[in-house]
Amino acid sequence: MNTLLVLGLSVVAAAVLPAAPAPARYGTLEFQQNANVTRVTFNHPPINLVDQYLTSDLLDFLVSLQPANRTTPPPKVVIFDSANPDFFLGHIDITSIQQPETPAKEALTENYIAVANLFNSITSTIFIAEINGRAFGAGQELSVQMDMRFAGPNASAGSFENGLGLVAGGGGQLFLATLLNRGQALEYLLGIKAFDGPTGTALGLFNNHYATADELREAVDALASRIGLFPAAGLNETKSALSFRNPTAAQLDADVIGFYELDGLPVEQANVNEVLYLSHNQTLSPFELGLPYSVLELYGIDQ
Ligand SMILES: *[C@@H]1O[C@H](CO)[C@@H](O)[C@H](O)[C@H]1NC(C)=O
Ligand SMILES: *[C@@H]1O[C@H](CO)[C@@H](O)[C@H](O)[C@H]1NC(C)=O
Ligand SMILES: *[C@@H]1O[C@H](CO)[C@@H](O)[C@H](O)[C@H]1NC(C)=O
Ligand SMILES: *[C@@H]1O[C@H](CO)[C@@H](O)[C@H](O)[C@H]1NC(C)=O
Ligand SMILES: *[C@@H]1O[C@H](CO)[C@@H](O)[C@H](O)[C@H]1NC(C)=O
Repeated sequence: MNTLLVLGLSVVAAAVLPAAPAPARYGTLEFQQNANVTRVTFNHPPINLVDQYLTSDLLDFLVSLQPANRTTPPPKVVIFDSANPDFFLGHIDITSIQQPETPAKEALTENYIAVANLFNSITSTIFIAEINGRAFGAGQELSVQMDMRFAGPNASAGSFENGLGLVAGGGGQLFLATLLNRGQALEYLLGIKAFDGPTGTALGLFNNHYATADELREAVDALASRIGLFPAAGLNETKSALSFRNPTAAQLDADVIGFYELDGLPVEQANVNEVLYLSHNQTLSPFELGLPYSVLELYGIDQ
């Protein structure tokens, strides 16, 4: 009787566990999962570039979180971190901005927009960025669409697109302005300035910052497991309710269109080509490590 009862209960408990994510098709994401929390680790050397592979893996994972696509409840919390000590999440593969446009480049851009839209439309999972490395360009712009950001000693985040004559479009600049006041958002976007842990926390970009990677991880794990205790329906309702602060669908569309109006212009194309050269083709170069300020080299200013 007791055995049956115990078995019966464990079967019920097992039935509500989230299904484990399928291995990432291109191997750019690693998953660790317990009952209610999934930790996703970006691992796409050398710089966690947001290219067709990483974007495709991220899209597959986010699609798999949508309740309509599942037979088990989604994880209540997903934490994103990185296997790379220097980079949390890189910028977009800027060859996708280089003319001429090709179907492969268009596919990357469409997948990126789909990823961004899912980050802000999925309300049944809470997304936390555990940032201890660089997050510039797309890396920053996807992080600001997550629900919370916590920073470690090596966190350095921001947008550098205005330095190329482009914009942190696709939602990034809009979401930054929901976290900071307008003047501060403009200062960091237009001046292509970097947020470190203390500054980002003071301005509201980061929830908090920690002196060591271990303290960061412990604090994020503790918060995630606490949230994981609580019934999913209420978590979803609170996240949905606070989404009134997100940009509207029309504002997000306009932000994407604004990017496309700029990216093919001659000065922007020249800057893109120069960045590919200076960054040694988007590899682990002083240019990439020096972002965002290394962009000033385009203007003859040595860093
Ligand atoms: C996942 O669910 C969404 C609706 O929530 C649907 O639009 C989409 O096609 C589904 N994707 C897959 C792969 O089943
Ligand atoms: C910070 O980054 C450097 C390499 O740039 C690395 O050696 C160091 O371990 C990192 N520190 C932490 C706390 O992650
Ligand atoms: C996970 O969530 C379930 C269902 O909401 C809950 O019963 C369980 O206690 C949670 N487990 C942990 C380890 O938080
Ligand atoms: C989350 O909450 C919203 C708003 O109440 C609701 O429309 C949606 O169906 C909920 N989703 C889940 C999975 O409970
Ligand atoms: C830049 O790297 C890509 C792969 O990421 C490669 O296809 C291309 O040939 C490289 N270009 C140069 C100039 O090295």
